Amino acid sequence: MPLETAASTVVAVPTTNDIEIRAIDLGDEADLRAWWEVGHAATAERPGKPWPLWEQSRRALPAPNPERGIVLLGAVDGGQMVGSGMLTRPLRDNLHTAMTFAFVAPGRTRQGIGSAVMAGLEALAAAEGRTTLQSEAYVPSGGTAAVEGFAESLGYTVASRESIKELSMDDYARRRSDLPSGADGYRIVTFDTVCPDEHVESFGRLLGMLMDEIPLGELDLESSEWTPERVRAAEQRQVDTGRHVHTAVAIAPDGEVAGISDVRVDDTDHEHAQVGITLVHPTHRGHRLGLALKVATHDLVGATYPSLRTVDTSNALVNTHMNAVNDALGYRSIETMLELQKVL
Ligand SMILES: CC(C)(COP(=O)(O)OP(=O)(O)OC[C@H]1O[C@@H](n2cnc3c(N)ncnc32)[C@H](O)[C@@H]1OP(=O)(O)O)[C@@H](O)C(=O)NCCC(=O)NCCS
Repeated sequence: MPLETAASTVVAVPTTNDIEIRAIDLGDEADLRAWWEVGHAATAERPGKPWPLWEQSRRALPAPNPERGIVLLGAVDGGQMVGSGMLTRPLRDNLHTAMTFAFVAPGRTRQGIGSAVMAGLEALAAAEGRTTLQSEAYVPSGGTAAVEGFAESLGYTVASRESIKELSMDDYARRRSDLPSGADGYRIVTFDTVCPDEHVESFGRLLGMLMDEIPLGELDLESSEWTPERVRAAEQRQVDTGRHVHTAVAIAPDGEVAGISDVRVDDTDHEHAQVGITLVHPTHRGHRLGLALKVATHDLVGATYPSLRTVDTSNALVNTHMNAVNDALGYRSIETMLELQKVL
């Protein structure tokens, strides 16, 4: 089965009515916009900032990325897009995995459209030899959502549960005087996206440990090597798409990067930011580096973007230490994310 994203590529999928499932042409802005609108409408009821701004998607989705391949599908009924899907797959590591996402226009749910989109995504993933499919479902804290029944009907199981949290920068400002600056014995270095030359090798070494160190529940993911070249290429892609990865690293007395944390801000939106990764090397834990790094990045984005209102993050419910750090900063839980997995 072809995996090109040309608009002419049609995935043959049985549907309950005459709905065509076809690939979106990433180079066709009108097609991409119609796809974006479905996801925007399908996520409109969720709290926080559940869907990227059009300007962000318009720039980021078509941008070439040797780390990750994307195919977008649309479910089209009489010329109107009523469902959409996204398949992403890592191209450098975890080649057995792919991620699937489906969205259905409000008013068109329970008509088999979501299942048809997922069948198209799964067929594409299987044709490429991907055997472990992963997805994400967002449900209100302590509540339920359509997606749970949907995921179950398609054979996905919950591999891990994460809490989605939001911080109001006003709350952070109120708490800031009670939070420490820095950590004894370590130097905190901050930068916008591009790691200083003297730290890049060590930075990559720590980054390579990420998948082994974060709680993944049952998720079948492996770590991989981050050479300075790979780090530099990833940084350049962020620069090219207008994303600022405001990063803090903790430098140990021996010069090694002992911890990393970042907050990401897009050029198109200076009101909302997202935490990317936070990781402290196992031999440097217990020195409150997680807190010190997060305070450093939040101070930095607060000072850089006076219009910044909220920062989002997510972390596993079982990740007690990270949850304690986020609570101290003033983060509040707004949703639960179910990490879903299905082995083909
Ligand atoms: C989740 C979503 C994609 C489902 O799309 P859909 O087109 O309504 O799904 P389908 O009609 O193919 O449903 C297939 C099966 O899923 C289950 N299901 C779907 N919605 C359900 C609901 N609200 N409650 C219980 N079960 C449900 C049922 O078993 C259903 O089969 P049935 O209608 O014969 O009983 C849609 O509700 C949506 O866009 N939600 C918001 C975005 C989202 O959460 N996306 C998921 C990210 S992967």
